[in-house]
Amino acid sequence: MVSLSLTHLHALKTHGLKQKDILSSGLLLRGYLHDIQRRGQGFLDLVHPSDVTKDIVSYAKKVRGSFEHIVVLGIGGSALGVTALMQALKPLSWNQIPASKRGGPQLHVLDNVDPELIANLDSILNYSKTLFVVISKSGTTPETVAQYLYYKKKMKKVAAGTSFKKHFVMVTDLEKGFLREEARREEFVNFPIPDNVGGRFSVLTAVGLLPAALIGIDISKLLKGASKGADRFLTTEIADNSAYQLAHAQYLLQQRYGVTTTVMMAYSSALYSVADWYRQLLAESIGKAVNREGKDVHTGLTPIKALGVTDQHSQVQLYNEGPYDKLILFLETKSFRSKVAIPSTGANERSFAFLSGVSFATLMHTEQLATQEALTAYDRPTANISLDRISEESLGELFVMLEGSIAFLGEMYGIDAYNQPGVELGKVLTKKMLLGSH
Ligand code: PA5
Repeated sequence: MVSLSLTHLHALKTHGLKQKDILSSGLLLRGYLHDIQRRGQGFLDLVHPSDVTKDIVSYAKKVRGSFEHIVVLGIGGSALGVTALMQALKPLSWNQIPASKRGGPQLHVLDNVDPELIANLDSILNYSKTLFVVISKSGTTPETVAQYLYYKKKMKKVAAGTSFKKHFVMVTDLEKGFLREEARREEFVNFPIPDNVGGRFSVLTAVGLLPAALIGIDISKLLKGASKGADRFLTTEIADNSAYQLAHAQYLLQQRYGVTTTVMMAYSSALYSVADWYRQLLAESIGKAVNREGKDVHTGLTPIKALGVTDQHSQVQLYNEGPYDKLILFLETKSFRSKVAIPSTGANERSFAFLSGVSFATLMHTEQLATQEALTAYDRPTANISLDRISEESLGELFVMLEGSIAFLGEMYGIDAYNQPGVELGKVLTKKMLLGSH
């Protein structure tokens, strides 16, 4: 179960929003929902189990035990969701757990072309026990293609003939792109990404579900939670529609007070990579030069990711006293999956008696509460997204809630939240420079 609380916003002296600001826009919500559905974006359709999800489950079952390493080659929306799923739903040091105790393969998400990263991964991979999951919606992303070409050549040396093709799986567009052609040519197992689902909205396609299933995450539960998220997204009752409330709060804060930054501050190490995933979703979706009428608007909300309690000692000074341009969005879990307590303090530790016998969970929750109270005292906008507990269901619901909030923001700003024209120029120049350097 995922809930959103905006109560701290209502308590602010000058930079807040009243409950009626958020809740009194039923007609707008109906119109936005209508427009979002009319645009035919597929992220809501993904919440229902399909033939593809069945195929993913049976493929994961078939290869169980065959590989020690799963290596995802992908970037942006083809990588961030996978990392978020692994970090949230598997033990934090999954790859470091000895194989005998881990109960599944290591998962490496190679979302960069840093040669040191590649060399480092090379030093630990056992190629004959490695499966490369090559993920790219377009099938033409140069970073991913470069990695694929590299590992293809390496694997050819290790696995000849038919055994070679067992080491690659493609997740890409059904029709187009170089990787689709490769999948056909090499006869790789492959899974499609629906045409109407953009990269950063694709975590619940094979992009996220396949690697998740390969490391033993129950994807049917993820979809169950996602389906709940979709129902809530589609409700016209504002009080029940967290996605709408969050977007509306972000929009009103920006319009009224110039709050142009959303800090997602996870009070859980397991949820920290969700903040990374959300960073891309918010930045690429809402940062746009023109609106749907082609008029210059230069919209955008800058996402920052932060980790509690760690960043209390790094960022909170700025959040409390710096410019009034931030919404701090706490991402929290009501219950941690591990119980660890601080020992009782003795005579020499009297000044720390307040820590005596306190659980680390209580310390974490208390520090979060205190940080939020302090931000409120400094008149800084904050809100809370709470998971009852971190689970497949709650992650699925959270993904859809946040994707839905982005869809609403797109409508509020009147922009296309699903394209990313601003990244093209850099790609064109890279190609030109590399061609010129030959
Ligand atoms: O949201 C998007 O569409 C992009 O950020 C992509 O995810 C990213 O550029 C990777 O693209 P692709 O999946 O085509 O390799």
